Amino acid sequence: PRVAVVFGGRSSEHAVSCATAAGVLQAIDRDRYEVVPIGIARDGSWVLVADDPAPLQLTPGHTPEVLGRGAEVLLPKRTGDRTLVVHEPGQALAAFGEVDVVFPLLHGPYGEDGTLQGMLELADLRYVGSGVLASATGMDKHYMKLVLGGAGLPMSPFVVITDAQWRRDKAAAMDAVGALTFPVFVKPCRAGSSMGVSKVDDLDGLEAAIEAAREHDPKVIVETGIVGREIECAVLQGRGTDAPRTSMPGEIAVDLRSGHDFYDFEAKYLDEASVQLSCPADLTDEVTAEVRRVAATAFEALGCEGLARVDCFVTERGEVVLNEINTMPGFTPHSMYPRMWQASGLSYPELIDELVQLALE
Ligand code: DAL
Ligand code: MG
Repeated sequence: PRVAVVFGGRSSEHAVSCATAAGVLQAIDRDRYEVVPIGIARDGSWVLVADDPAPLQLTPGHTPEVLGRGAEVLLPKRTGDRTLVVHEPGQALAAFGEVDVVFPLLHGPYGEDGTLQGMLELADLRYVGSGVLASATGMDKHYMKLVLGGAGLPMSPFVVITDAQWRRDKAAAMDAVGALTFPVFVKPCRAGSSMGVSKVDDLDGLEAAIEAAREHDPKVIVETGIVGREIECAVLQGRGTDAPRTSMPGEIAVDLRSGHDFYDFEAKYLDEASVQLSCPADLTDEVTAEVRRVAATAFEALGCEGLARVDCFVTERGEVVLNEINTMPGFTPHSMYPRMWQASGLSYPELIDELVQLALE
């Protein structure tokens, strides 16, 4: 089959998406799949790019970026037509050939939030991962909380501040936050990789933190910080009518002496020495089972397809509190999602194969 691997994109997680693509281009089984790498530049143009993982790596000295140069890729609009069209600058449009499935390796808005998924639905192209509604709900931490809380899953208390509320009456918005137990985490509702996230210990730091989050999204969510271990679980859609499959949980431990107050962007991608990822996490059988139950329940409650990573806290008393779900989790070979599967008996190339097969099913 021919797989269009799409990455980059318009969100602030552009570089993370490139790193994810580097991993997939390196590992995908070339005997089985023909790969068409398509980059989305920051301005939103889709271009054919070199099939080369090297320039896509994210390292302390290099932030990868898709440049909008080269042949532009256009999607089909007619039912049943899977032919991509390419447009070389200064030349006539040309058919590039059919693709069987699109693998959107995009994080954040305009990629993980249902917009791209809607475009692929209109183009009648099959794709890996969740559909429009699950992607949109998973991207927006406000609606994610409403849906997952509605499914009976325990989550931390929160307050949402919309753009209109903030502009109408900042004092009232901050008063509402004052009802939460501190410290709190202030987050843009629709972002990822901890971009725009701050931990705030008291009301003094609140306004600046809200303004920082608003740089990423005018809608902000403030959550009570949960004291507990950070435990994640990878979920894969079942085959056919099978229930979702869950990996062994993994644990993230940030070395606070490194200067990272929490698992922030730097700790995630640039300062790996300050973070310890362990999989399987050292948990009792009961807690392991509960994390996996919560993960599978969250996946089904949101109506996810393909894959998702569910992030939890486990408190000292062994309670599992759901933090969030990511419908397109970081997917480099060093990322938690593939590592948790590896620890559960599914290698990175096998995982890619499984995801593409699920989309083709
Ligand atoms: N948003 C990042 C990529 C993650 O959830 O892993
Ligand atoms: Mg996220």
